[in-house]
Amino acid sequence: MTKIILSGCNGKMGRVITRLVSQDKDCEIVCGLDINTSVANEYPVVASLENFNGKADVIIDFSNPENTDKLIKYCKDTGTGLVMATTGLSDAQLSSLDDLSEYVPVFRSANMSLGVNLIISLVRKAAAALEGDFDIEIIEKHHNQKIDAPSGTALMIADEISDELRDKPEYVYDRHSVRKKRSENEIGIHAVRCGTIVGEHEVIFAGNDEIISVKHTAMSKEIFAVGSIRAAKFISDKKSGMYSMKNMM
Ligand SMILES: NC(=O)c1ccc[n+]([C@@H]2O[C@H](COP(=O)([O-])OP(=O)(O)OC[C@H]3O[C@@H](n4cnc5c(N)ncnc54)[C@H](O)[C@@H]3O)[C@@H](O)[C@H]2O)c1
Repeated sequence: MTKIILSGCNGKMGRVITRLVSQDKDCEIVCGLDINTSVANEYPVVASLENFNGKADVIIDFSNPENTDKLIKYCKDTGTGLVMATTGLSDAQLSSLDDLSEYVPVFRSANMSLGVNLIISLVRKAAAALEGDFDIEIIEKHHNQKIDAPSGTALMIADEISDELRDKPEYVYDRHSVRKKRSENEIGIHAVRCGTIVGEHEVIFAGNDEIISVKHTAMSKEIFAVGSIRAAKFISDKKSGMYSMKNMM
């Protein structure tokens, strides 16, 4: 039985995870963490983990980067594993997560869906095969409540493509401020925010008179919740280290 602290338990993702874990006999939520403690849950909810005296195997975090430093300290002090799903972390926070992985198992993915991680392996292959002949652009679309842009997933896809390219690309986010042609060696990354779109990521490889497009569409938030619960179970008996979807798949 994997014992979980759910950070951001009263948010959109937190509520989906609460429902799925309540139907899962292999894990339980022993405590919720949220600055909003006004929602009634079947488990205790605290605004700070200083008020939790129990013990958990893993924290699943879908909250906000403002919470990240405290979580990292808590995990290091208590030996609790961490599934970090919150996006928009700073470089310093990413490096603190690397440090933490020397003490406890840490699983991080800006996108917990199996499908997105599959398209990453496809676009890596495409990038390696098409380098130099095709322009690469990434378009991501999300609901109008999303705060960070571009999405953590779009950046993750760009980093994975970059990893395959011999000539390291420049990421270009904003074309309106500079009037010049695109260079060969760039990846354009574009964010669309509207309505209730759960998440769409499309990678376009455009060459001379031919276009290849690889696209993933998330139809519900459940795919991320399922992936994060699997990740929590996956790292619950692992030794310290940094884990990702690649390890789990
Ligand atoms: N990795 C993935 O697959 C994936 C998928 C979906 C969302 N996300 C990310 O997860 C995060 C949460 O997404 P959401 O849609 O559930 O957002 P949300 O705004 O609905 O929920 C966030 C919750 O965290 C709480 N919170 C905010 N700041 C806090 C703090 N300092 N301490 C404790 N609790 C705090 C809020 O009160 C809220 O209940 C975002 O960063 C989002 O981009 C990641």
